[in-house]
Amino acid sequence: MAESMKGLKRSARAAEFSSANIGEKVTVMGWVQKRRDLGSMIFIDLRDRSGLLQIVFDEANVGSEGFKKAESLRNEFVIAVEGEIVKRGGAVNENLKTGEIEVVAKSLRILSESQTPPFPIEENSQTKDELRLKYRYLDLRRPDLQRNFMVKSKVMTLVRSFMADEGFLEVETPMLCKSTPEGARDYLVPSRVHPGNFYALPQSPQLFKQLLMCSGFDRYIQIARCFRDEDLRADRQPEFTQIDMELSFVDEEDVMDVNERLLKHIWKEVLGVDIQIPFKRMPWQEAMDRFGSDKPDTRFGMELCDVTETVKGCGFGVFTSAIEAGGSVRGINVKGQGAMPRKKIDKLVEFAKGYGAKGLAYICLNEEGEIKSSFAKFMTDDEMKALIEKMQGEAGDLLLFAADKNKTVWEVLGALRLEMAKQLDLLDKNTYNFLWVTDFPLLEWSDEENRFMAMHHPFTMPKEEDWENIDKDPGSVRARAYDIVLNGTELGGGSIRIHQDDIQEKMLEVLGFTKESAYEQFGFLLNAFKYGVPPHAGLAYGLDRLVMHLVGADSIRDVIAFPKVKDASDLMCGAPSPVDEKQLDELYIKTETVEE
Ligand code: AMO
Ligand code: AMP
Repeated sequence: MAESMKGLKRSARAAEFSSANIGEKVTVMGWVQKRRDLGSMIFIDLRDRSGLLQIVFDEANVGSEGFKKAESLRNEFVIAVEGEIVKRGGAVNENLKTGEIEVVAKSLRILSESQTPPFPIEENSQTKDELRLKYRYLDLRRPDLQRNFMVKSKVMTLVRSFMADEGFLEVETPMLCKSTPEGARDYLVPSRVHPGNFYALPQSPQLFKQLLMCSGFDRYIQIARCFRDEDLRADRQPEFTQIDMELSFVDEEDVMDVNERLLKHIWKEVLGVDIQIPFKRMPWQEAMDRFGSDKPDTRFGMELCDVTETVKGCGFGVFTSAIEAGGSVRGINVKGQGAMPRKKIDKLVEFAKGYGAKGLAYICLNEEGEIKSSFAKFMTDDEMKALIEKMQGEAGDLLLFAADKNKTVWEVLGALRLEMAKQLDLLDKNTYNFLWVTDFPLLEWSDEENRFMAMHHPFTMPKEEDWENIDKDPGSVRARAYDIVLNGTELGGGSIRIHQDDIQEKMLEVLGFTKESAYEQFGFLLNAFKYGVPPHAGLAYGLDRLVMHLVGADSIRDVIAFPKVKDASDLMCGAPSPVDEKQLDELYIKTETVEE
């Protein structure tokens, strides 16, 4: 039966006591982590978010009623104990913050009983994800998850105070917005008052923060919820949080400077790690050429090598036909893996195919200097020698090649490079390689849409020196955009914005908008720009991704309290779910049953 806590006041959290408190009378409250009965004595590990504290019950101190109650305690009961802190009777527990002390109970109240939980509440749980997420409120009791949220909370506090000191104002922007066609798919919200009309949940506060610059706020920050209806991945959720900022009268240097100092501050305060600023910078083209990725992990080498010139005109049709079709041939040298068994190589070929490769050509150089290769028979000895030399291949090396259009070659080798690093354990968790990737292409061709799309978004400023090519070669125009990359993940990104209406209108035209459709979609921004707009720029981080790095989580779900699973549903609440006909009627919505 649940008792009240009337008349009791908790002295402190369980693990906030230490030997310094020996002799003190205290009241502690929390969950029963574990009960051990030793006949005349009962030990309880009491748990709360601060950690564990041992409580001892014996009849002499707690009385026979109290002792009986202690015998009835089960895991996850919520209790209140009055008692005295003493030096531990048994051996000191080095693993516990409170390992030198225990509380001798004088009274016990059971504030709430618990059914047997569906899985044990313990660190590094082996429980299946589905069960954990169904009972997320229990899952969140686990100390490792609780630590993640303490870090997340600390990061939010650090960001707010640092940015306030730097002159940023926190301004809220709407959740019910206008749907805009660029970017990911929107989550829509039907309007009751305007039948057939919909709001969209924001994918980011992008347009609003630019309008705030027009309004003269000068420096804006928001820890903002964003919604994107896209496929989930280990570092992607449909609902996530951005640390979003915008600054007026600035260039790249200003944005990068304040952000480098912000990240340095966070790493120091959270991890005690000194990161070196300024960060390295790398143009997008170089990142793709050297690492096959616009978010390169620079903790290890194994860089891509372009062998197109070397194999041009060789006897291997796979290579030459890719080159003739305007593509390239590139390779990576996996040092010391020349003896990799055929079966393992076949697995790499399959891996490469998963990234769009048609195949993966390889050369194994064994210690005796012999060559085993999937394509040696198509090449002369001289051609083979030249290729190995270009790859700086030495005895014992494994050389892997992809031939295709550049985009595919980069994607395949970029992924393969990371996969090899994982297999060979080359990724040091305690190294933090921050990198700015700059000079992204402004536009990206979309086969699906059969038109150019903005690589970042339509409000990103082109590089002045490239702009004259916008008509004859739109794909060659670079953007004043930058991403902040850490150990191979994109933590955030931003750009200098267009603030001239002629450039903005031209940009929208290149993206396929007519003047009318541009005004229909973005008229409020285009109009605002007619009334005096400061040059401005900004950036947004994925807060969840940032915290993932700080706590070393492999999944974004471990840093979001109530996350969605792969099909975007919430296993705990059961969302999304059908709604009443009446609700639909009010919204003038008719639904059709669709076969799943
Ligand atoms: P962008 O689209 O690059 O830029 O988003 C910024 C950062 O948000 C994080 N992020 C996500 N995190 C978790 N789940 C997702 N589905 C998800 N999508 C994005 C990433 C990403 O780097 N308005 C611009 C920023 C600007 O230009 O100022 C924007 O939203 O870490
Ligand atoms: P094939 O002549 O198709 O048997 O291919 C010979 C070798 O080249 C095999 O090892 C294939 O995996 C590899 N290969 C095929 N297509 C490509 C490609 N586009 N890039 C790199 N290697 C390829």
